[in-house]
Amino acid sequence: MRFASSLIATLALVATTVLASSHQDKKPHHPKHEKPIVIDKKVFNTGKIPFHPNTGSALFTNWVGLTLDYKYVKPVFDLVNATASLNNNTALLSRGEAHITVILPPEYDNILHPAGVTIEELNKIAVDPKRPLQKARFGVECLGRVQVVSKPDNVYQQAVQIILKDFQDIVAYRQKVWELFVKKGGNPALFDAGNFLPHITLGFKHRDIFVEDGVFKGKNACIHSLIAK
Ligand SMILES: *[C@@H]1O[C@H](CO)[C@@H](O)[C@H](O)[C@H]1NC(C)=O
Ligand SMILES: *[C@@H]1O[C@H](CO)[C@@H](O)[C@H](O)[C@H]1NC(C)=O
Repeated sequence: MRFASSLIATLALVATTVLASSHQDKKPHHPKHEKPIVIDKKVFNTGKIPFHPNTGSALFTNWVGLTLDYKYVKPVFDLVNATASLNNNTALLSRGEAHITVILPPEYDNILHPAGVTIEELNKIAVDPKRPLQKARFGVECLGRVQVVSKPDNVYQQAVQIILKDFQDIVAYRQKVWELFVKKGGNPALFDAGNFLPHITLGFKHRDIFVEDGVFKGKNACIHSLIAK
């Protein structure tokens, strides 16, 4: 009996090993070998676009963003929305505008605001003439896609975005916010300037999905190469 169960355990181990290696054999996605999607490099010229404050009295209405010119983002949305391999056969909804979220609504509502940091203070740091947020430099990493079955409604959700890289200027803004937060007595452990996955949301099915849903919009989510030209 003991022999039989250890045999079964061995067989199970062999089976999982075979499954694991066959999974590894599956051709991984190599975005580099594909024809890249191109976004107009004018998308980086954000310095002349006015900073747009996002303030409100309800939850999730206070956040900080870097506004982009949607004119340069829309062609990428249209391509993704028209290409089944990129959108997984899902027509996507668009917000009709483009931005990079820099301070997320839950960061403001749950962490910064309870420590006495106001949205007006965050907006003031953003328009500091020494380091205006709208002039922050950033680069594009790839086209990303995340999906999850949301809880508790049990709905398949998908969101497509441009994943960013080289966003030190944006982290520098967040570092200023952290300094203000700590100066006001906030617990330094609760806000990390660098723990942040900036991206440009292109579109989604039903609704956008976030870290709170369990998805990470970093390099891990790349599905296709994308370059600025
Ligand atoms: C594609 O969409 C279907 C549902 O329509 C889903 O079951 C599947 O997991 C999706 N694949 C990916 C990679 O998102
Ligand atoms: C996305 O594509 C669908 C067709 O598959 C179209 O009906 C819809 O209008 C497109 N969405 C936008 C925002 O253009």
